[in-house]
Amino acid sequence: MLSEERTFVAIKPDGVQRGLIGEVVSRFERKGFKVLAMKLLQVSDKQAADHYAEHEGKPFYPRLVKYIQSGPILAMVIKGYGAVDSVRHIVGATNPVNADVGTIRADFAQVMEYNVIHASDSVNSAEREIAIYFNEDEIFDTWKTKTEELIEEDELL
Ligand SMILES: Nc1ncnc2c1ncn2[C@@H]1O[C@H](COP(=O)(O)OP(=O)(O)OP(=O)(O)O)[C@@H](O)[C@H]1O
Ligand SMILES: [Mg+2]
Repeated sequence: MLSEERTFVAIKPDGVQRGLIGEVVSRFERKGFKVLAMKLLQVSDKQAADHYAEHEGKPFYPRLVKYIQSGPILAMVIKGYGAVDSVRHIVGATNPVNADVGTIRADFAQVMEYNVIHASDSVNSAEREIAIYFNEDEIFDTWKTKTEELIEEDELL
């Protein structure tokens, strides 16, 4: 059975300030993913610490936290089939130098420290990160896409 996943995606402050919100969101919409939630927000000290807990103590950690708090981010919950890995493919490698042509990081970023976008790396991270930025009542999973309808019909056959 094909299963859907939710993932957490955030356009980092430089992406927001460079006017890339529409460009980035349109890539996920064109893919057919559902945007279940979206919020422009200033990351708090606690949210930054929770989000990047796995990197605490690493040399780049202070810069990472400073960067994510340098202006508002556009936080999103995205849902679709294989969404966690699929979104990571569309986002590209952490270091934009190595990101495949056509990915967001290859197209819009130059260096690893300032790579424009965040995307969860597993279903578990996604659910953990969604909870840092959203209450469940801010997430709207109340309609079906054509793809969902077709796949669900197939499964009844
Ligand atoms: N060696 C490094 N030097 C500088 N910055 C780094 C380094 N490794 C990671 N970062 C920064 O920390 C962020 C989180 O690192 P992580 O290993 O989770 O990469 P990622 O999963 O590709 O990125 P993200 O979590 O932002 O989607 C990266 O997006 C990057 O901005
Ligand atoms: Mg990561």
